Amino acid sequence: MTLKGKKILLGLTGGIAAYKAAELCRLLVKAGAEVRIAMTQAATRFVTPLTMQALSGQPVWSDLWDERVPDAMGHIELSRDRELIVVAPASADFLARLAAGRASDLLSALCLARRCPLLVAPAMNVEMWENAATQRNVAALRADAVRIAGPAAGDQACGETGMGRMIEAAEILREIEVLLGPKALAGKRVLVTAGPTQEPIDPVRVLTNLSSGKMGYAVARAAEEAGADVTLVSGPVSLATPPGVARLDVSTAQEMFDAVKARARGCDVFVSVAAVSDYRVRNRAARKIKKRNGEGLTLELEENPDILAWVARMPKPPFCVGFAAESEKLAQHAREKRAMKKLPLLAANLAQEALGSEENSITLFDDRGEHPLGRAPKIELARKLVAHLAGMLPAKKR
Ligand code: C5P
Repeated sequence: MTLKGKKILLGLTGGIAAYKAAELCRLLVKAGAEVRIAMTQAATRFVTPLTMQALSGQPVWSDLWDERVPDAMGHIELSRDRELIVVAPASADFLARLAAGRASDLLSALCLARRCPLLVAPAMNVEMWENAATQRNVAALRADAVRIAGPAAGDQACGETGMGRMIEAAEILREIEVLLGPKALAGKRVLVTAGPTQEPIDPVRVLTNLSSGKMGYAVARAAEEAGADVTLVSGPVSLATPPGVARLDVSTAQEMFDAVKARARGCDVFVSVAAVSDYRVRNRAARKIKKRNGEGLTLELEENPDILAWVARMPKPPFCVGFAAESEKLAQHAREKRAMKKLPLLAANLAQEALGSEENSITLFDDRGEHPLGRAPKIELARKLVAHLAGMLPAKKR
């Protein structure tokens, strides 16, 4: 019973994925949650209120003017005691109403009047999802700290294929369990670096690498979910900032170093996931380098500072976690790197498996030995890493 006694409002909007909300309701109740249901009028066309009432064991709400709530304050009352609102499925129109702060129906009024976190699981046709208006609304919701779960890509009810399918009920349940679960890093300040760096060759060219930033962003998200105050120093990537995370964009290794140096002192944990360029161009050109037919071009490289090693050698360092992407002999290189950089914890993966992929397979190395986390989506591995490092932090002084 992972959600024992948790008070959740499950909102349904109009979409064929509403049938998955019936399953979600069943899973929530099975996990011990107390589930109140609110449906838009359109949602009642896809699943009946009777179905949702039977599954939740409670009356279903769908009318802003419902006289069952005393004082006609249903739009406030029904969300006041909730610990979380989950809207699944969330249609394109509902996301638009939410982003605009509308309160024209019961469910959007409840969302507007809430005091608790809000999680939405979008579900719509691929064209509707990719439409600039929807993307604008989703970005606005993210900026407002609304949590967006999915959507996934795949076959759609309309016969098309692409992004827009609602994620499965079990996956939404997992997101809810994480949101409402114990906060292993409550009160901790966590600094994370992510993504590649870019080292200029001339004003238009750079030396960089293929890091997507996905693993570092997943670590930042998992740390925030665990209750930490998270700052993410990010190289150039095209990823959305995880909700509740403060992000600082940098481009060169030196900029990343400066940003980390300015923030490392007040931190409890430093997780260095960035693929920092080991070298930068010494003879960087002030003007665009012209092609000299037949002649080669020599770039002279000089070493960049090792950001992680610097932090780990601070007089009172935060708890430092390094990442190592190796192409072979994973365990051997990981152990050497952990010792050399003086790290309590190192996460190692094979570079060829991790780069750009949604999944990864990680092994942790600490004083107690090796801990394989297996192969899984990066966010799941990040959650395991966060749980592991939280268990290694010194106990709070009383
Ligand atoms: O030595 P290597 O680059 O493989 O070590 C990887 C770890 O060191 C990663 O955690 C990476 O973020 C960090 N690193 C760093 N500064 C560098 C190079 C690597 O912080 N200049």
